[in-house]
Amino acid sequence: MKTQVGIIGAGPAGLMLSHLLHLEGIESVILECRTREEIESTIRAGVLEQGTVDLMNEAGVGDRMMREGHLHHGIELQYSGIRQRVNMHELTGGKSIMVYPQHEVIKDLVAARLEARGEIIFGVSDVGLHDVETNSPRITFLKDGAEMELACDFIAGCDGYHGPSRQMIPESVRNEKKQIYPFGWLGVLAKTPIANPELIYANHDRGFALISQRTPEIQRHYLQVDPTEDIANWSDDRIWSELTARVETDGWELPDGPIIQKNIVSMRSFVCEPMQYGRLFIAGDAAHIVPPTGAKGLNLAMADVQVLKRGITAFYQSGDMNWLNHYSEVALRRIWKAQRFSYWMTTMLHTNFNHTSFERSVQLSELDYVTSSRAALTSLSENYIGLPFEWEKERTLQI
Ligand code: FAD
Ligand code: PHB
Repeated sequence: MKTQVGIIGAGPAGLMLSHLLHLEGIESVILECRTREEIESTIRAGVLEQGTVDLMNEAGVGDRMMREGHLHHGIELQYSGIRQRVNMHELTGGKSIMVYPQHEVIKDLVAARLEARGEIIFGVSDVGLHDVETNSPRITFLKDGAEMELACDFIAGCDGYHGPSRQMIPESVRNEKKQIYPFGWLGVLAKTPIANPELIYANHDRGFALISQRTPEIQRHYLQVDPTEDIANWSDDRIWSELTARVETDGWELPDGPIIQKNIVSMRSFVCEPMQYGRLFIAGDAAHIVPPTGAKGLNLAMADVQVLKRGITAFYQSGDMNWLNHYSEVALRRIWKAQRFSYWMTTMLHTNFNHTSFERSVQLSELDYVTSSRAALTSLSENYIGLPFEWEKERTLQI
């Protein structure tokens, strides 16, 4: 088999890259180790930045999101039993976020690729990358027991944190920077009505809690737990009483109901520099992980592939590798700002049980400052809603 761009992974990064390349008349093939049903039902992110919403619309895949997603103009921050709304719409000059689940984004992108006769090969195994430092890289894989090979001009490694692509960057070239947090998130999907019109991020002595939403009937909530905690220790009753203890305020009650899914994820920050080696480019979670407190992971994946698409398009238009050779540098500037923001939100909102009483008081004072200063609220809002893409454009004009 032969294509122009071989893409490993049908997550948001791989699917959106393939779709954007198609709009530029560039061919790609996506190799995915899971089935279509699995990728379309895995519960992950929920919040799309303004820039991701604009991208979905501009790329012609935003119709269902605009019909079924929920536009939010702010969030609520809670600490010491006080809840305060952050009017992000007003603080950012009219921008907003969209609550629209990641697996719905996946469904829309898969449908668009298949409708355009794009090739997604599901259920592959033993994916191997070869000759990435040459102009003719190859991907080998097994499909239904048969050995296959995909020859291409470029490989896009969009295979998430555990995929093989990042490992192809030699250790002597690869610089991995990471931070592990002593926090985990217990996430639940529950059959209840919407608890609150906007998301609630709550700091509490017992630990952080997040009240989010999915549909009018199903909601998504999270509890800070120890990352080594066993989910078997968390009955539905214990989850509801803990969520209630952390988020209820006078006159506001959390609706409960049957929990239909629960799991625990650990939290880390991670960046791989550079994100290019020869003709291999890595994007999304393959290159970086953020703790979910800033809701940035999916959005960063979508930002990476826009930079990558521009470089690949420039190559096919004029043979110019200059944009592609600056892919890492340009993408990493946004990635580090998102890392900074996610780290800041995580440390400000979670309860670190190893903290001294001094550190706990400083944390509460930071929340007091942030919620009372218009400058601080504006900074929080512009980061949460997503930094503008013009920043990348200005930087690349200098290349
Ligand atoms: P992935 O979605 O991981 O996709 C990679 C794909 O590659 C997968 O389909 C995988 O099966 C495939 N693959 C892996 N290995 C191979 C292989 N060897 N061969 C072939 N295919 C392979 N982000 C936000 O922006 N907002 C949020 O609100 C948010 N909330 C989150 C909440 C939780 C609890 C979690 C866990 C994450 C959250 N995120 C959020 C992060 C977001 O889900 C990820 O950053 C996003 O999925 C990254 O997309 P990706 O395409 O880079 O990688
Ligand atoms: C979610 O709804 O899954 C969600 C929302 C906000 C976050 C993280 C996850 O910061």
